Amino acid sequence: MSSTIASILEETRIFEPQQNQHANIGSLDEYHTLRRCFSDDFDATWRDLAREHLDWRAPFTRVLNRERAPFFSWFEDGKLNLSENCLDRHIAAGSGDRTAIIWESEAGEVRRISYVELLADVCRAANAMRELGIESGDRVVIYMPMIPEAAIAMLACTRIGAIHSVVFGAFSANALRERIEDAEAKLVITADGGGRRGGVHALKPKVDDALSGGCHCIQHVLVVRHAGNEVGKTAGRDIDWHDALKVQPDSCEALTVDSEHPLFILYTSGSTGKPKGILHSTAGYLLWARLTMQWVFDFQPETDVFWCTADVGWITGHTYSVYGPLACGGTTLMYEGVPTYPDPGRLWKICAEHGVTVFYTAPTAIRALIKAGDEWPNQHDLSNLRVLGTVGEPINPEAWMWYHNVIGKGRCPIVDTWWQTETGGHMIAPLPFATSTTPGSATLPLPGIDAAIVDEQGKLVTDSGGLLVIRQPWPSMLRGIWNDDARYVDTYWKKFNNTFYFAGDGARCDDNGFFWIMGRVDDVLNVSGHRLGTMEIESALVSHDSVAEAAVVGRPDDIKGEAICAFVVLKAAWNEALVDALRAHVAKEIGAIAKPDDIRFADSLPKTRSGKIMRRLLRDIAAGRDITSDISTLEDQSVIEKLQRSGQG
Ligand code: PRX
Repeated sequence: MSSTIASILEETRIFEPQQNQHANIGSLDEYHTLRRCFSDDFDATWRDLAREHLDWRAPFTRVLNRERAPFFSWFEDGKLNLSENCLDRHIAAGSGDRTAIIWESEAGEVRRISYVELLADVCRAANAMRELGIESGDRVVIYMPMIPEAAIAMLACTRIGAIHSVVFGAFSANALRERIEDAEAKLVITADGGGRRGGVHALKPKVDDALSGGCHCIQHVLVVRHAGNEVGKTAGRDIDWHDALKVQPDSCEALTVDSEHPLFILYTSGSTGKPKGILHSTAGYLLWARLTMQWVFDFQPETDVFWCTADVGWITGHTYSVYGPLACGGTTLMYEGVPTYPDPGRLWKICAEHGVTVFYTAPTAIRALIKAGDEWPNQHDLSNLRVLGTVGEPINPEAWMWYHNVIGKGRCPIVDTWWQTETGGHMIAPLPFATSTTPGSATLPLPGIDAAIVDEQGKLVTDSGGLLVIRQPWPSMLRGIWNDDARYVDTYWKKFNNTFYFAGDGARCDDNGFFWIMGRVDDVLNVSGHRLGTMEIESALVSHDSVAEAAVVGRPDDIKGEAICAFVVLKAAWNEALVDALRAHVAKEIGAIAKPDDIRFADSLPKTRSGKIMRRLLRDIAAGRDITSDISTLEDQSVIEKLQRSGQG
């Protein structure tokens, strides 16, 4: 058991919610009332929320269609446009001059974009895409730094019904190619580069590299000039974003789409094979993005400045940097750069300067900033903060308490939000002015979310740990895996006979009904809140000429939560340069985030007699702890000692 999990399990401190008469949900009674509405009439409650919170072009006739379970559809026959809900709607309501996006570059440049300006840019981009032949249903890959054009490109896709697939800028050319090909995208939108640690992280060259090795589906590349680095231009294919947009009108008729029109594909790691393209659709996703903003962050669009530090390349960036705040008509902050540049006070300086009121980040960032010392936050005025959030991995009580005391000065509720790429939005989280909180627990399922903990047979467990499942569909659930229906059913539904959604996490419930997330029960790693598949890293390693076999496991890490440990069997003799070479190779195949922290060389890997790699054993060895797994089936017992020695010196 990791030290984080162990300390979470011993946690008993409880923090009662503060009174707030203006909160969207201001008491636990209100929370229970809303939950009861769902248990009394599930469909009618969703129906009312969807009618109230979205602007429809045509009303829906059916709330939830379960006929093709586990393929569900929501709000059938309803018609709407997402960009219209995020932009035109607020302008029509008189909020056009409100700031939609505050952007700050690493060098300190600031842009403020109002709703009116954002709509104009989105329309120009949408018109430019249409002129390039992009039609409803076409896939557009967005490979961008954290700049407003990333959000503009996403919204422009939704304006014309194109399906976007954002690829995180730190993924390599090979990873980008794999995603472009799987999605069969027609267009890539990228930038020359982004600002990072005082330098430039070049993006366009990686796009060139990706396209040179295949991707025949791509017809054009739109390039935002941003970082000023020199980039090549392929005639007929590459188009300057600014040149393309400036000749376009600033209005664009929004395409009316069905509720279930595919909205985006976002690739994420699974326990087997290549990354899977998680597919989300329009109305249900948007509804939940808006509701969770209001419920979990108590978002008040007139007065709040909301900052989610996640990159748009991850689901957190999709839902809470872009769609959630904009669906509510509020102000979202985007920062392009690293949290510790030029010093570890950068995030707090931004909070102070822009008057951030709701701040949302990952435990990894908190742990890294704790290490830097309290003097950094203490230099800045954090008095505007009123709600703090965390996401992506379990938060250890020490980090929670620091966040609470040093950043929140003991007065800001902390919302520890459990959710996934697949769930689209928050699932288990406190409501800041209704739920009491306790360090390390994501507390209660949100109204409408039927979360439970079951054993391997699907039977409810009450007093011990088990598997986290969701027993009822919810509007922002994934609609499938792009081009792979069978994998969708196998991964999430088969385990419990198509009745429960299986999240892949272990959890336990305490006497108050609070959920404690214990981490993945499959071969998915959570490194600094980034999700990586062990198999992906293993395939990258074995694609190196010197590697015969590889097994990758996680080991506890104080800052990153989990570090990557690779056990490698070589084809040829060992030499010192191999460690760096293999790390560089993984960075090339996947991206720098997947580089193993430890590489241990071995003569062979521990396997059962049937040939299965014994991962639990490797996890114990990687963590340097006593062997807890059953090794009676291990074929060659001498392997253990050799492996333990492989990590020394
Ligand atoms: O293991 C859980 C962990 O992150 C996984 C989902 O990763 P991803 O799809 O990349 O989405 C991350 C951001 C939503 C989950 O299966 N996880 C997410 N939030 C928490 C968490 N673990 C513990 N506590 C959380 N609050």
